[in-house]
Amino acid sequence: MDEMGKRSPTDRTQRSEVGPSTALAYLDPQYWDQRFSSEEHYEWFKDYSHFRHLIQEHMNPKSSVLEIGCGNSHLSEELYKDGITEITCIDLSAVAVEKMQKRLLSKGYIDIKVLEADMLDLPFGNSCFDVVIEKGTMDVLFVDSGDPWNPRPTTVSKVLAMLEGVHRVLKPDGVFISISFGQPHFRRPLFESPEFTWSIEWKTFGDGFHYFFYILRKGRRLGDAKGSGQRSDIPSIYLLQEELEGEDYIFRTDVDELDN
Ligand SMILES: C[S@@+](CC[C@H](N)C(=O)[O-])C[C@H]1O[C@@H](n2cnc3c(N)ncnc32)[C@H](O)[C@@H]1O
Repeated sequence: MDEMGKRSPTDRTQRSEVGPSTALAYLDPQYWDQRFSSEEHYEWFKDYSHFRHLIQEHMNPKSSVLEIGCGNSHLSEELYKDGITEITCIDLSAVAVEKMQKRLLSKGYIDIKVLEADMLDLPFGNSCFDVVIEKGTMDVLFVDSGDPWNPRPTTVSKVLAMLEGVHRVLKPDGVFISISFGQPHFRRPLFESPEFTWSIEWKTFGDGFHYFFYILRKGRRLGDAKGSGQRSDIPSIYLLQEELEGEDYIFRTDVDELDN
């Protein structure tokens, strides 16, 4: 991927021929299986080098890390190279899981566990991870949310199920890192649901379109969330031309709703 998140010619030959015609496909497990059967690597939003500086202050070599919805991203191996060896990745797609297991094995990253699992029903005990991280995975749940200011009840209940699972598996003082294009005024009401004890903070990264790096620390709930990002007022639809050329654009936009 280049600086603007566009695919290089090599990436293009490795991934599926075309993105889906509607963002709703991202909710279909078959879409992901089919896509991953021919795609070797696609990094949603930005790769690790763009947010490494933000991650580092929340992890150390002793951290146990759960990555949710790993797809065919290189995030886990980049973390491993940075000394984080206790990593578990999950994805709903059996194809993604099998290919990730093979790839990590072939590169010698035998300590990284990769499991087929649903983020809405995490198969882990309580309080077992220091850090849970997701990049673009929670955003999948929003593709049929309707009005972003007032998401459909089905969207809200799925997002809360995911967040409850994440909150449960985090150790006390553990951190949930959510890397998203969703702006704070859309994500905060869900992150701030009363059952969660985490504090909420966010930063931004990226050129042109800024992505959000949310940091939710369990047991540290504050009165008011504080963001250090300066761009939280950018409307979702405000995109640079480079962004429009990438598949991320479809992800951020419900194409069906634009037609209406
Ligand atoms: C937009 S991709 C992001 C992939 C990767 N995190 C990245 O940054 O490149 C969303 C991923 O979430 C996975 N996924 C979708 N629904 C899921 C669920 N309910 N549980 C776990 N993974 C899910 C998909 O299979 C896909 O790999």
